[in-house]
Amino acid sequence: MNERTNEDRRQFVRSTFARIADRYDLLNRLMTFGVDLRWRRDALGSAQLPSGAQILDLGAGTGDLSREAERQFPQSTIVAADLTPRMIAVGRAKTKSARVHWVTCDAAELPFEEASFDLVASAFLLRNLEEVDTALQEQRRVLQPSGSLISIETTPPLPGLLRPLVQFHFRVVIPLLASVFSSDSQAYAYLVHSTHGFLEPDALAERMRRLGFSQVRYKRRMFGAVAIHWAVKERDSR
Ligand SMILES: C[S@@+](CC[C@H](N)C(=O)[O-])C[C@H]1O[C@@H](n2cnc3c(N)ncnc32)[C@H](O)[C@@H]1O
Repeated sequence: MNERTNEDRRQFVRSTFARIADRYDLLNRLMTFGVDLRWRRDALGSAQLPSGAQILDLGAGTGDLSREAERQFPQSTIVAADLTPRMIAVGRAKTKSARVHWVTCDAAELPFEEASFDLVASAFLLRNLEEVDTALQEQRRVLQPSGSLISIETTPPLPGLLRPLVQFHFRVVIPLLASVFSSDSQAYAYLVHSTHGFLEPDALAERMRRLGFSQVRYKRRMFGAVAIHWAVKERDSR
């Protein structure tokens, strides 16, 4: 992808999330019936981290995952990184801890040294990216050998009896909630659209293996509409 298209993409993402930043947390709670907080808790719950761990929350948005990491790993230092300054501003205002450090940056080009983090975690980031492989390579680069990777992401709904229910939720319930509680239902149309275009969990797991992660596993949540992936940076990987 050329530089111009990359910049267009960054601008689009920034302006979309800037428009919904103030209502983002409220809409998240309503759209998931509040269980998104549990997904973040479960995702981090199985991480084995050293005391004083360095954690990167990538695409941190308003910081829900960072605050959960701060709660679960009291000795850790957390970098909450995001492309959209307005999301960071909302997150910063909600986060009292001095252990969370906010950084504006692009997931495709992380401003961190190699092997800086024990854990790189993201929630609902990957589907926004034009080049998922580049972002995963960057995440692997900044991880310590044997460091952990976690991704929480929406996925295309599973075939089967529940698919119409999940589709109804995405196509009717979310747009309705967005039109009532947000001034920008267009931005939520983007969120729904990006979910449908994203990788199946098996395909994402395979990408992770191909790019030098091992012990890759995932669990589905919310009738298969969300997947949590865990992986480890291989010690000997490039
Ligand atoms: C759906 S929100 C998720 C926020 C948060 N992780 C959560 O759990 O609620 C996606 C976030 O990813 C950020 N984002 C999108 N593209 C990005 C990129 N290329 N680099 C860094 N952050 C990005 C957006 O600004 C937005 O804050």
